[in-house]
Amino acid sequence: MPLNRRFTLVRRPSGVPVPEDFLLTEEPTAALEPGQFLLRNHYVSIDPAQRGWMDDRPSYLPPIALGASVRASTVGQIVESRSAAFPVGAWAAGLNAVEDYSVGTEGGYTNLVDPDAVPSITNYLSVVGPTGLAAYFGLLSIGQPRAGETVLVTGAAGSVGSLVGQIAKMKGCRTVGIAGGPAKVQRLLNDYGFDAAINYRGKSVEELVAEIRRAAPNGVDIQFENVGGDILDAGLLAINPKARIVLCGLISEYNSEPRGARNIWELVVQGARMEGVILTHYFDRIGEAVPALIGWVRDGKLRVDEHVEDGIENVLPAMLRLFDGNNEGKMMLRIVD
Ligand SMILES: NC(=O)c1ccc[n+]([C@@H]2O[C@H](COP(=O)([O-])OP(=O)(O)OC[C@H]3O[C@@H](n4cnc5c(N)ncnc54)[C@H](OP(=O)(O)O)[C@@H]3O)[C@@H](O)[C@H]2O)c1
Repeated sequence: MPLNRRFTLVRRPSGVPVPEDFLLTEEPTAALEPGQFLLRNHYVSIDPAQRGWMDDRPSYLPPIALGASVRASTVGQIVESRSAAFPVGAWAAGLNAVEDYSVGTEGGYTNLVDPDAVPSITNYLSVVGPTGLAAYFGLLSIGQPRAGETVLVTGAAGSVGSLVGQIAKMKGCRTVGIAGGPAKVQRLLNDYGFDAAINYRGKSVEELVAEIRRAAPNGVDIQFENVGGDILDAGLLAINPKARIVLCGLISEYNSEPRGARNIWELVVQGARMEGVILTHYFDRIGEAVPALIGWVRDGKLRVDEHVEDGIENVLPAMLRLFDGNNEGKMMLRIVD
């Protein structure tokens, strides 16, 4: 039986996670039951959501139990199987954990994927993984962009935000992105085709509002929110009547107590709508989203940046880069040689 290294949660983080919150354990993989298969994870996704799953509070998934491996999306190859539907050698992706080997079950959250359908197998963790699907359904189903409208994207240089900006542009919208620092502002303009880009670092809410209004002279019709806090508040002061605020995430609050939105009254003033993105509501439409996203990538219309680090021992440093902004694209770890 192969040895399985597992990145386990041993203490709930208080604020920013520290090494003492985790342990890298090693144990033999369990014997398979009928209908199960063993996935050798090649890549594991590192996501802001993992921080939320470490807290002991109700959410859309149960908290990661102490002693359990840190939950993660993974992609890999089946190396043992007691399921005819999941044969040895096939590739599969799904919600597993940061570990060398995951046990999958027929009807579970791991599905077969076609390595030849995508430019890189890692795309199953980025553009056709949870981040790409959140961008697709959040923008198109909740935001409902119309040509000529203005879309404000926060966390715009991140994995979700960079895709949202490009899809909004394809739909004929003016795109305004907010990100941290001058280098990211340049990436928004040059790599992701934003019409305007704003550096939020060191700015007050009032300064941000002024910059958003300059960049969006006709007001904001859709605010795609990845960050929360001051950035969400600033955007709300620039929304148009009937604006749609797509609440995808609140990364600025994941390592602290929730701060909340202070300018929520603007929803009343503008008759605007704020709606969260939860992917489970769109599972029946994944068959529509995946070919569309892959098609845009293959046609050169959608640029996908991935930031791949090596080694299961580097989970925490990789995760921390999400919170200090030092990731350039979808963060993931390669854990197989
Ligand atoms: N609802 C869903 O289904 C779903 C799916 C995937 C992701 N999400 C959410 O979408 C958001 C973006 O995820 P992602 O995967 O695109 O992220 P990402 O690629 O990991 O990028 C995270 C970026 O967030 C920015 N950031 C971090 N802390 C910040 C803070 N305190 N204030 C302002 N910006 C901060 C940083 O960029 P800067 O350098 O610009 O600060 C960082 O590079 C997260 O909130 C995540 O939870 C939701």
